[in-house]
Amino acid sequence: MKHNWFLFVFFVAITLSWSCKKEALAQFIETPAPPRPAGQTDVLGLRCDPLPTVRVAFIGLGMRGPGAVERMTHIDGVEIVALCDLLEENVKKVNKMLESKGLPKAKEFYGDEEIWRQATALPDVDLVYVATDWKHHVPIGIQAMKDGKHVAIEVPSALTMDDIWALINTSEQTRKHCIQLENCVYDFFELTTLNMVQQGLLGEIIHGEGAYIHGLQPYWDQYWNDWRMDYNRTHRGDVYPTHGIGPVCMAMNIHRGDKLNFLVSVDTKAIGNPAFLKEKRGEEVTDFRNGDHTCTLIRTEKGKSILIEHNVTSPRPYSRMFQLTGTAGFANKYPVSGYALDQSEIDPEVAGDYQNLTAHSFLPQEVKEALMEKYKHPIVKDIEEKAKTVGGHGGMDFIMDYRLIYCLQKGLPLDMDVYDLAEWCSIIPLSEISLDNNSMPVRIPDFTRGAWNRLDKVTFAE
Ligand SMILES: NC(=O)c1ccc[n+]([C@@H]2O[C@H](COP(=O)([O-])OP(=O)(O)OC[C@H]3O[C@@H](n4cnc5c(N)ncnc54)[C@H](O)[C@@H]3O)[C@@H](O)[C@H]2O)c1
Repeated sequence: MKHNWFLFVFFVAITLSWSCKKEALAQFIETPAPPRPAGQTDVLGLRCDPLPTVRVAFIGLGMRGPGAVERMTHIDGVEIVALCDLLEENVKKVNKMLESKGLPKAKEFYGDEEIWRQATALPDVDLVYVATDWKHHVPIGIQAMKDGKHVAIEVPSALTMDDIWALINTSEQTRKHCIQLENCVYDFFELTTLNMVQQGLLGEIIHGEGAYIHGLQPYWDQYWNDWRMDYNRTHRGDVYPTHGIGPVCMAMNIHRGDKLNFLVSVDTKAIGNPAFLKEKRGEEVTDFRNGDHTCTLIRTEKGKSILIEHNVTSPRPYSRMFQLTGTAGFANKYPVSGYALDQSEIDPEVAGDYQNLTAHSFLPQEVKEALMEKYKHPIVKDIEEKAKTVGGHGGMDFIMDYRLIYCLQKGLPLDMDVYDLAEWCSIIPLSEISLDNNSMPVRIPDFTRGAWNRLDKVTFAE
C-alpha cells in the first residue's frame, strides 16, 4: 500500500514537472492579427481592369527615384504624368531629363511636406510610385489607394505592425494593388534559381539564407535630412530585411502553401556607426541602437528555416547571401555563385564531358552556365538584353518595373502582393521586439488572415 502511494506521488510529480516544462517551451511573444474589418476580403490574386496606358506619378526623387523615372521611359504604354519631391531642384532635374528625351514635361509638385497629396489626388494618374525616405512611405501609399490609385512603394515599405496592417486593410478595402518594389526578386540568378526550384531540381527547399551586407559609409551623408542614420540610431533589429528575405520567401512559396511562423533575433553591440559619427561628424553617441551585425532566424509552418542577416557598417564585400538548401541540391549567390546537385539530378546533356560530379563541390563553371541557360526564367527571355542595356542594378530594376507595367496593362495579378510586403517588412518591428526581450521567439502573424494555403505556389502571370 505504502509502495503504491509512493508511486502515485512520484507519477504526479513527474506529470507536473513535464507540464511545467511544456508550458515553458510554449512561450512566444504574441503578435495577433487584428480581425478583418467587416465587408472586406483578401486581395490574393487580385485582378483589376486592364490599363493599356499606365499614367504614373513619382513621389521622392532623391538618389533612387530619378533612375525609376528614367527606366519607365523605356517601357511602351507608360505616361509620366507627375513628379513630386520636397526639393524643387530634384523635380526640375528629372523633368529636364524627360524633355531631353523628347517626352512631354510632367506636372511638378515641390516645396511643401504635404504637397504629395496633390499628386496622389490627380484624376489622370493610375499608379503612384513612391521612393521617399522610409517614414513617408505609408501615409503616401494609403492616401494614394484612397484616391483610387495603385501604389508601388520602395523598400522597406513599412516599419511598424500598425502601418503594415493599415496598408493591408486599405488595399483590401479599396481593391487597389499595393506592392513593395523589391527588385532583388528579379535578379538573374534569383529568377533562374526560382525556376529550378519550381521544376524540382533542388528537391524540397528546407533552408534559405539572405542578407543585406553593405557598408553604407559612402552614402550616409547623402540621404535627405539624415533619415537613414537617424533610423538606425534609434532602432535595434534588422531594419533592411527585404532584399534578403524576398527571394527566399518566393522560393519557399510563402503564403502560397507555407507561412512564416516565428522569429528569433540576436545582434552584436554597435561599434561601426558610432565610430563613423565620431570620426566624420565629431558626435559622441553612446546609445546607438542598431548593432553592427544582426541575425534573425525564422521557422515556417512546413518546418523550414530561414536565416537573415543585416550589416551596414563592417568592412565586408557586398552580399545578399541568397542561399537555398534543398533535399536534392544547393544554390548560393554570394560570395561565390554556384550550384551543387545530387548526382541523380545532373542532366548528362548539361554535364557534357564532366564525369562523377557530386554535391560535395560546386558544379564546374561550364556546367553551371549550361544549367542557367536551360533554366532561364520565362519572364526574362524576351527582355534580358533590354534589361541589361537599360540597367538599374545590372537590369533587375528594369525587369521589376517592366513586370509591374506589363501586369497592370493586361489586368493580371501582380508578381508580388501586399502580403509579401507585410511578411518581408514585419521582420523590422518583430526583430526589434525579439532583441528587446533577450532574443525571445516572436510570433509572425498570418497576414492573409487564414488564406495562406489557398494558392499553391508563386506565379508570374503571362
Ligand atoms: N531597391 C533598392 O535597391 C533601393 C536602392 C536605394 C534606395 N532604395 C529605397 O528608396 C527610397 C529612397 O532612398 P534614397 O536613397 O533615394 O533616399 P534620398 O534621401 O536620396 O531620397 C529621398 C527623397 O525623398 C524626398 N522627400 C522627403 N520627404 C518628402 C515629402 N514629404 N514629399 C516629397 N518628397 C519627399 C527628399 O526630398 C529626397 O529627395 C528608400 O526607401 C530606400 O530604402 C531602394
